Amino acid sequence: MYNGLLMAHSGWRYIVLVLLIVAIVKYLIGWLGNGKWSGFDSMLNRLTPISVDIQWLLGLVVWVMQSWWNNGDRGRAWEHPIAMTLAVVVVHILSARVKKANTDKGKFQAGFWAYLITLVVIAAGLFVILGSWNLFA
Ligand code: HEM
Repeated sequence: MYNGLLMAHSGWRYIVLVLLIVAIVKYLIGWLGNGKWSGFDSMLNRLTPISVDIQWLLGLVVWVMQSWWNNGDRGRAWEHPIAMTLAVVVVHILSARVKKANTDKGKFQAGFWAYLITLVVIAAGLFVILGSWNLFA
């Protein structure tokens, strides 16, 4: 049970990262190319925060089920959950701003920054646990 959840938490990162990268690239193209905001863009702005929520929840369960990790390094046991909780807060605040923007260009611009900032926070949260900036390590 614990190993299954740990695997799910480890593997789900790829879904989160792919969605973040697709959102960043898609919104940047829309912003710079004066694109038209589509149903797909709205869906991306809904699904990406949900994928982060699922990852957060899986992480919380793994965390509660284990008392310790990293050879008992208590300090680092807090850094990852705190960074990822910040990522959840950031992604929800910023994705709401995308919804509120009232022009297509404004939505693409807000979306680009929302998911770039989220990616940076998540990368920092992964760094403390993977020990490298290689998010796919
Ligand atoms: C929301 C974004 C999150 C992402 C992208 C993420 C990603 C990861 C990744 C990639 C690992 C390494 C797994 C491996 O070694 O294969 C990991 C481990 C871990 N995560 Fe997260 N995590 C997130 C949130 C959280 C939260 C909120 C918690 C706790 C409240 C948490 C608790 C843990 C624990 C306890 C481990 C270590 C498991 C172990 O190696 O024993 N994670 N996480």
